[in-house]
Amino acid sequence: GDDRVEYFRYKGISLPRYLVSEDMDAIRDFAIRDDDVFIITYPKSGTAWLQRIVSLLRFGGDVSKTDQKEQDELVPYFEQKCEESVPFRELPEAPSPRLIKSHLHMFLAPLQLKQGKGKVIYVARNPKDLAVSYYHFHFLCTTIKTPTSWEQFLQEFVSGEVCTGPWHNHVLGWWEQKDNPNVLFLKYEDLQKNTRKQVEKVAEFLQWPVTPEVIDKVVEQSTFQNMATNPNTNKVSGKEAKAGIFDSSKGTFFRKGVVGDWKSHFSDEQSQWFDNFYQEKLGPTGLHFDFE
Ligand code: A3P
Repeated sequence: GDDRVEYFRYKGISLPRYLVSEDMDAIRDFAIRDDDVFIITYPKSGTAWLQRIVSLLRFGGDVSKTDQKEQDELVPYFEQKCEESVPFRELPEAPSPRLIKSHLHMFLAPLQLKQGKGKVIYVARNPKDLAVSYYHFHFLCTTIKTPTSWEQFLQEFVSGEVCTGPWHNHVLGWWEQKDNPNVLFLKYEDLQKNTRKQVEKVAEFLQWPVTPEVIDKVVEQSTFQNMATNPNTNKVSGKEAKAGIFDSSKGTFFRKGVVGDWKSHFSDEQSQWFDNFYQEKLGPTGLHFDFE
């Protein structure tokens, strides 16, 4: 992180500084293809994990095919400006099927996704672990502000001042779409509990034919350990590191990869306050999370 960073404020949401209003118009109008696959998350919810699972499924679990390219090239980050390139401007020329990663709120995403075109896999994570993960990520990533303390970061996370804006607004926007046939809503904790079952769900949703052997390979190649040690997925010297977006001397993307790490950061008081806030936001919606 860099404590001098300013965010781009758009419709009440803090977004990365490289975005401008015309980009947001182009994003809304982006032409979706029927076979597009969007992986959409609030940051730190398991985005990279899903990128890996979907890439492997796309190539029948064959790592000699997935690993010809860095994962972030295979599944580009839709709205991120990296060096001089920004995927949503280049994807119109890309061959199908396009695999795309995005952190957009539902109300800022391409309109055609909501109209049922293309496919969206949304991944959500319990907000306590997510806040801890995002806190640490702020040191690694140079385009977001360095937190001065965990306490201060937690306040900004809950008030929605952090980059990407209010978590509950993001997750509830996409939760509203969960019954649309072109949307699959997954949870990080379920992926941890039974990866195989979730991988099967993804394959079925995408209607890509798979055998049990393919599923085995996908599960094996998408473990935390394998992703953390694979230079095509671990982001240590990937495109974001090369562009200076990640400062690998300040942290590691593959940090812990567990459920319940929030306990090492939240005081009892912070935990109570946080639970009350999210109970108020999520309670009436039927969306629940496992916290351990
Ligand atoms: P932690 O910081 O808690 O370790 P995203 O890809 O959305 O940025 O999310 C990153 C978080 O997902 C990090 O969480 C990272 O360790 C975790 N993660 C990435 N790949 C994973 C995997 N294969 N299994 C479990 N967790 C994974």
